[in-house]
Amino acid sequence: MSYHKPVLLSESVDSLEIRCDGVYVDMTYGGGGHSREILNRLGSKGRLIAFDQDLDSQSNIIEDERLIFFRQNNIYLMQTLDFLKIKKVDGILADLGVSSHQLDKKNRGFSFQPGYKLDMRMNQKQNLDAIGVINNYTETELSNLFFLNGDLKNSKKIAKEICIERTNKKITKTNHLNSVLEKFFNHNTRNSFLARVYQSIRIEVNKELEFLKEILTQSKKILSKNGIMSVITYHSAEDRLVKRYFKNGCFDEEPIKDEFGNSLNPFKLKFQFLKPSESELKFNVRSRSAKLRSALKL
Ligand SMILES: C[S@@+](CC[C@H](N)C(=O)[O-])C[C@H]1O[C@@H](n2cnc3c(N)ncnc32)[C@H](O)[C@@H]1O
Repeated sequence: MSYHKPVLLSESVDSLEIRCDGVYVDMTYGGGGHSREILNRLGSKGRLIAFDQDLDSQSNIIEDERLIFFRQNNIYLMQTLDFLKIKKVDGILADLGVSSHQLDKKNRGFSFQPGYKLDMRMNQKQNLDAIGVINNYTETELSNLFFLNGDLKNSKKIAKEICIERTNKKITKTNHLNSVLEKFFNHNTRNSFLARVYQSIRIEVNKELEFLKEILTQSKKILSKNGIMSVITYHSAEDRLVKRYFKNGCFDEEPIKDEFGNSLNPFKLKFQFLKPSESELKFNVRSRSAKLRSALKL
């Protein structure tokens, strides 16, 4: 089984307009599909710095002296570049979310298939896992994360049901959680409903939105003039953040402005967004929710 089929591969790497001697960052290495394509377009003097916090991603490291891989969280971007004595980079790619490997390897506990321990940690060394979130978060915290991370309208009722059940028995397995949630779905809505609940928990376990904000903020600082940042998002919560950051240069509704009211947003959108083509959707159904956004640093 392949580790991961890269999504929007040529569109995302095209959007970076790779300069053959440039310095690039792959924030989310995974199976290395995007990195391989970036390396294909780099010349002998080009460099690629890549991050992935998942221990398993190390088995995919491409032997290439232009690639420097860090098995760590990408929030250490600036610190790492400092260590490498790199002041600015020409392009940054972030392909957010989980890899197919993480979803398919059942003992990683990302999938809602019955019979598995709830885990969902991308970084196997971190303490917080899905069991911790489901059993220790307050009802309000759970309700908020279902609403904000999964756009689930009945978030309060879902949280309440979980809190009632966990006083009887700790929820540690996928089939236990699924049975608690049974009253909220029918045969037709089951998979999409469970996918949203699991996605909400996964986002919290891995602090995905907090880290995304951090990497966008750091990227703005270390992109060179005319440097390009491209991000592939997979759900509305992360897409909203990227869209707003590229449009306004901050996470507020309005752009940052100087005292005369001129926008200080350092980004120029390269295009609105791109979605996978029909042929990609046929070949890789998991690409269906992907959106590519790209911006040039002025
Ligand atoms: C969608 S996959 C990337 C797939 C990759 N583009 C490819 O072509 O194979 C996302 C990867 O990013 C990693 N990841 C997500 N958030 C991360 C973070 N904050 N720091 C480091 N790695 C992260 C995950 O472990 C996962 O392997």
